[in-house]
Amino acid sequence: MKEFFDPDWGPATLGVRAAEPRGENGEHSAAISLTSSYVFRNAAEAAARFSGAQDGYIYSRFSNPTVEAFERRLAAMEGGASCVATASGMAAVLSLCLTVLKAGDHILSSRGLFGSTINLFNNYLTKFGISVSYVDQTDLAAWEAGLRPNTRLLFAETPTNPLVELADIAALADIAHRHGALLAVDNCFLTPVLQQPLKLGADFVVHSATKYIDGQGRCVGGAIVGDAQRVGKDVFGFMRTAGPCLSPFNAWVFLKGLETLSVRMKAHCANAQGLAEWLSEQVAVRRVHYPGLREHPQHALAQRQQAGFGAVLAFEVEGGREEAWRVIDATRLLSITANLGDARSTITHPATTTHGRISAEARAQAGIGENLLRIAVGLEDLKDLQADLARGLSG
Ligand SMILES: Cc1ncc(COP(=O)(O)O)c(C=O)c1O
Repeated sequence: MKEFFDPDWGPATLGVRAAEPRGENGEHSAAISLTSSYVFRNAAEAAARFSGAQDGYIYSRFSNPTVEAFERRLAAMEGGASCVATASGMAAVLSLCLTVLKAGDHILSSRGLFGSTINLFNNYLTKFGISVSYVDQTDLAAWEAGLRPNTRLLFAETPTNPLVELADIAALADIAHRHGALLAVDNCFLTPVLQQPLKLGADFVVHSATKYIDGQGRCVGGAIVGDAQRVGKDVFGFMRTAGPCLSPFNAWVFLKGLETLSVRMKAHCANAQGLAEWLSEQVAVRRVHYPGLREHPQHALAQRQQAGFGAVLAFEVEGGREEAWRVIDATRLLSITANLGDARSTITHPATTTHGRISAEARAQAGIGENLLRIAVGLEDLKDLQADLARGLSG
């Protein structure tokens, strides 16, 4: 493993060059270490590895050179001392919670979370005596008021899905730390190229690497990044015991994904900005939600804490479900799917897909109407995306 990299390098350089794994054969592009276990030269070496007296690989549930290369590179890009890779984004959230929380603890979370994270918190963590309550992402007074004596973890996803509302990470870190709690930020919408929550005071970053880190919709995986004790020792200790580990093959795909992440995110953002501006001009569109638009209520915060506005946008059409579905059904290029972070643009109707299982009342409270559509803008030519949407908007 080549050790040298400069933490002050920019995100593009770190993505290409940090923690380059170099095998015995000097491969320029990382080789994949596709093995479940490692052999030792003799019994003494085996004993030394198992006792920790000697560094080296033992078993791929907890140590593998390809997985380690991905972890080190992502840690460098996020500005964290340690990273633990996991089998999925949800495995990252679960591993973090089961490491830092115990029965009797409370999670204070933003309401605007990915549905499976809400499901995990409400229906599984509560079985083990962990309580959870939710506040509005943008309302700092509500976060402050929502703290309880046993609040141990604040959790936010920024920007949110689908309305791209932001959390003020530095302010939330301050609220958490004044209370003796920890802040975790799900950074999968922006990636370390556009936002580095640890540098703004967050204690943990969680990722679904399935999204932009892969970037082409191939593999499922995740990661937790943070300091050497809480992540490098504590989360790692949970992971090696419980076993929600990342496969070396997927780690290799993600390692390669990090090499192009910076250039892809810039292209995603440029397309999303162009599409948001174009949508704002369409008579059939009532409102566009995108932090890159000057009228977005948190445009200034986005400029302050992000290096780009991201590639997810939502818009409201004039009318209701019928008019929204007409836009979807008229597309020939955009993929009708709820996934995001792919080179291919995707379009979805949140009220009947990603948010279809929550009550109509909760949806209304969250601002997710029947006329709302979400696009995760991909890497196609902007004019082709516009033409694809124009058909359904002009009818
Ligand atoms: C914001 C966010 N966090 C976490 C996840 C879960 O990631 P995974 O599907 O890799 O488990 C997703 C998946 O869509 C997501 O959008």
